[in-house]
Amino acid sequence: MPRIAGPCAVVIFGVTGDLARKKLMPAIYDLANRGLLPPSFALIGFARRDWADEDFGKVVYDAVKQHARTPFRQEVWDRLAEGIRFVQGTFDDESSFERLKATLDKLDQERGTGGNHAFYLSIPPNAFPVVCEQLSKSGLADKPEGCWSRVVIEKPFGHDLKSAEALNGVVNGVFPEASVFRIDHYLGKETVQNILALRFANELFEPVWNSHYVDSVQITMAEDIGLGGRGGYYDGVGAARDVIQNHLLQLLALTAMEEPVSFSPSELQAEKIKVLSASTLAEPLDETTSRGQYTAGWQGGERVVGLLEEEGFSTTSTTETFAAITVDVDTRRWAGVPFYLRTGKRLGRRVTEIALIFKRAPHLPFDATMTEELGQNALVIRVQPDEGITLRFGSKVPGNAMEVRDVSMDFSYGSAFAEESPEAYERLILDVLLGEPSLFPVNAEVELAWKILDPALEYWASHGKPDPYESGGWGPDSAFEMMNRTGRAWRRP
Ligand code: BG6
Repeated sequence: MPRIAGPCAVVIFGVTGDLARKKLMPAIYDLANRGLLPPSFALIGFARRDWADEDFGKVVYDAVKQHARTPFRQEVWDRLAEGIRFVQGTFDDESSFERLKATLDKLDQERGTGGNHAFYLSIPPNAFPVVCEQLSKSGLADKPEGCWSRVVIEKPFGHDLKSAEALNGVVNGVFPEASVFRIDHYLGKETVQNILALRFANELFEPVWNSHYVDSVQITMAEDIGLGGRGGYYDGVGAARDVIQNHLLQLLALTAMEEPVSFSPSELQAEKIKVLSASTLAEPLDETTSRGQYTAGWQGGERVVGLLEEEGFSTTSTTETFAAITVDVDTRRWAGVPFYLRTGKRLGRRVTEIALIFKRAPHLPFDATMTEELGQNALVIRVQPDEGITLRFGSKVPGNAMEVRDVSMDFSYGSAFAEESPEAYERLILDVLLGEPSLFPVNAEVELAWKILDPALEYWASHGKPDPYESGGWGPDSAFEMMNRTGRAWRRP
């Protein structure tokens, strides 16, 4: 049976933002709809707007109607709506936080939220210190025995190792590490959790999951969307900080780590930390990395503009919208196997996958012409869309000749299971309320990820502009050259 959250309230800071509207509020409704929230649950929005509870309720209602995964049910909504409150305030104003405390105390008494509060910081990181400090001052961060106070932090966790350390220092100065939940929503995806099941619940894969059999690993997160309207967040941040530092390095950690002794949070974290500690960027960086910026082009039959013409971006922006790096994982299992990570906006199509590309068979007892259409064996974890796993290998083409050609064996979630996958945010928000930390990167993971990436960021900052690439393609020439140099090629998903 799924565990249901105990009495509690969630406070969202940054409630007028896109993330709250598209992901957080709908996920909370979906959890309520699935019967996973307690009847006493309360949702509090905190923002500058001059709203009454009903105005905020309307905002939540619209977000749910538009973006919830599960069907709308009036009785579920009515119950949820009874616990919706709004606190008008600003981060630097003490009295706003006193009002927030009064609202939470009242909810504890009236609805029985039990003094258990999760504070969701869906706000820019430069506002984390002031909000944490105000939560501490108003007494909302410290709780008596038997009650909890947790803080949920959205990325970016800083912009390099130094700033991440400073940020972690501030947050940990107020909340003990066990009460800090750093969101990396990729860890909430079913297909990402399935990496552990695939590797450690089966006997088939793990014996070949190493440098004896694997030639290289490619982790791709391609998006077809552009960045119009997101300049405020993205300009000056770029693709590497936006998703390689977190999502892609977490995928690398899960793919490359050793088997944990158990799935307890500390054992799992220990293995991820170990493998991230062993990972560094391959050098020289001018040959092993690439970055690009999209220019105008065609996508989905439509003409689209380049980044420099996008609303909200400086016309001289040097922000990269494509980034690729090569990571060496210096462990006995992986020494000599390059991990290629790439991500980009406005690429050919939306796809996230992890591909293990195997070495060629050491000897082929065929004439060369018979294996002309045989590639390297590959195991591809299709994270999204079309979630599943593909195994590619060679097979004899029917006929008199011995001709071998690549074929695929597919597992697809859609056809194998009747159950629908919950949204990543449903799983993660529920885990926060249950106090279940397995799927949240700890301080050390975040800092190690920056340590891996920092040399590329510094190198790029001092080496001109990103290379242009046409929207709808697969990245700049430098990305293709980076692979060609090693005698390999990017997969064309
Ligand atoms: C976010 C990034 O973390 O992930 C966005 O900030 C990106 O730039 C998004 O678009 C992609 O998430 P998903 O779940 O659609 O792959």
